[in-house]
Amino acid sequence: MQLPFNVEHGAAQSLQDQIFHRVRRLILDGQLKPGTSMPATRELSRQLEVSRNTVLLAYDRLIAEGYLETEPAVGTFVSAHLPEDSLMLTERPARAIDRHDRALRHRTILFHGQPHGVYTPPGQRVSIDFKVGRPDPNSFPARLWQRLLVKKLEEAGKNLTEYSDPAGLWELRQAIAEHLGPARGIATTPEQVLVVAGCQEALDIVARLFVTKGTQVVTECPCYQGAAFLFESYGADLYPIPVDNQGIQVDRLPDSPVTLAYLTPSHQYPMGATLSLERRLRLLEWAAGTGAYLIEDDYDSDFRHHGSPLTALKGLDRYDSVIYLGTFSKSIGASLRLGYMVLPRPLVKPATDVKTLLNNGQPWLEQAVVAEFMSGGGFGNHLRRIRRVYLLRRDCLVSALRRHFGEVRISGLEGGMHIVWHLPAGFPPAAEVERRVRDAGVAVYTLPGGAAYCQPGEAAVRRSIMLGYSSLAESEIKEGVARIAAVLENAAAGGT
Ligand SMILES: Cc1ncc(COP(=O)(O)O)c(C=O)c1O
Repeated sequence: MQLPFNVEHGAAQSLQDQIFHRVRRLILDGQLKPGTSMPATRELSRQLEVSRNTVLLAYDRLIAEGYLETEPAVGTFVSAHLPEDSLMLTERPARAIDRHDRALRHRTILFHGQPHGVYTPPGQRVSIDFKVGRPDPNSFPARLWQRLLVKKLEEAGKNLTEYSDPAGLWELRQAIAEHLGPARGIATTPEQVLVVAGCQEALDIVARLFVTKGTQVVTECPCYQGAAFLFESYGADLYPIPVDNQGIQVDRLPDSPVTLAYLTPSHQYPMGATLSLERRLRLLEWAAGTGAYLIEDDYDSDFRHHGSPLTALKGLDRYDSVIYLGTFSKSIGASLRLGYMVLPRPLVKPATDVKTLLNNGQPWLEQAVVAEFMSGGGFGNHLRRIRRVYLLRRDCLVSALRRHFGEVRISGLEGGMHIVWHLPAGFPPAAEVERRVRDAGVAVYTLPGGAAYCQPGEAAVRRSIMLGYSSLAESEIKEGVARIAAVLENAAAGGT
């Protein structure tokens, strides 16, 4: 063990005294706990570059004063029972405490945001959870993953001990660029792809590049909390534009210059609309005219249940105005913490520089596994398999709702991993539905509960329930909806 201090050669205080006081301080501050084994005198003399005799004399004094004790032929330890004066020293005088508290109170914390609700602590989990945007845990390709992990470990060489390119592993950036052509109509090169820790970090990188106090950021209304809260935490003024069943209402975009617009064109979060082609083209024209960068959050576009997917905004982008965000959180797993950006050319270097300042890049092993998962065809097979599973689950959910509630009004059916159920007249408000069904062991979500950012008084908040279906088996979906129906019938009958 190395002790966390050095001594000053040539100082007024003798080397022996310095060692005595430093060790004593470590013990009194609780950094060296009673019973801790002390380094051998030879070892400490090497660490501090002093003679062994100096260390021996310092140890002798610490033993004599009761801070250390020896066990012959075993070693030297911090005393199990420290001398009385040391215990007294741990209690700071009242005046010192006061000063300390005042100093703490006057520290300025610059973060003024709040987190979005993605994590459910174990104590709050329920048996049937219609949580939004969660991949099916049983569909995770565990066996192939294990094989790839072992293979990549065997090939790792220096890759696990060296820093790698903060922009991401080249093979992964290549695989992403190749995937995006056929999948999203995006023609790009690996140079423009930046590997990040999910869309959330991508948003942070964009904010660091563009947002300061008062920066205007256009958002959909409602939109994803993870984006809205993040921009607000950098001081942005959000400019919310309502969405309808074709996505953001582009004729309500401001004429004035805007820095950024944050959008979910494939599957509007949370309401689920797909932005029409006409609106996509008008958005691009608007961005070119106002100088705004469009952030296209394509979080769950791997799942398109009807027709062929619309080309991403980035695929239609002739003016290099779109910052494209993709993630493996939905297609593979959220705890992988891997996503990517496709950057307009002028942003490649600044964004990579920010990524370097943030964390020097993503872990090599996970990137290497995902790269081979993609290039070896595993990703394509996995997507085909889970698309079928999710479509069946979506249909199962919709028919269960119809069976119990008749003609239900639903949005967001075309793609993604959740739907929005618009509660009919006569049903309790969404917050009450959320509360009541939870008592029956089922979690459903209001818009804010499902990480949607809403304006105060927004009507949809009171009447919309979000239901994620991708992580539940069909039997759980049926059971969950039956329980919801029982609870709501009870509510209608005036029961509790
Ligand atoms: C709209 C939206 N964007 C992005 C994400 C994914 O974020 P990340 O890639 O950081 O896991 C989510 C996850 O819930 C989301 O709902």
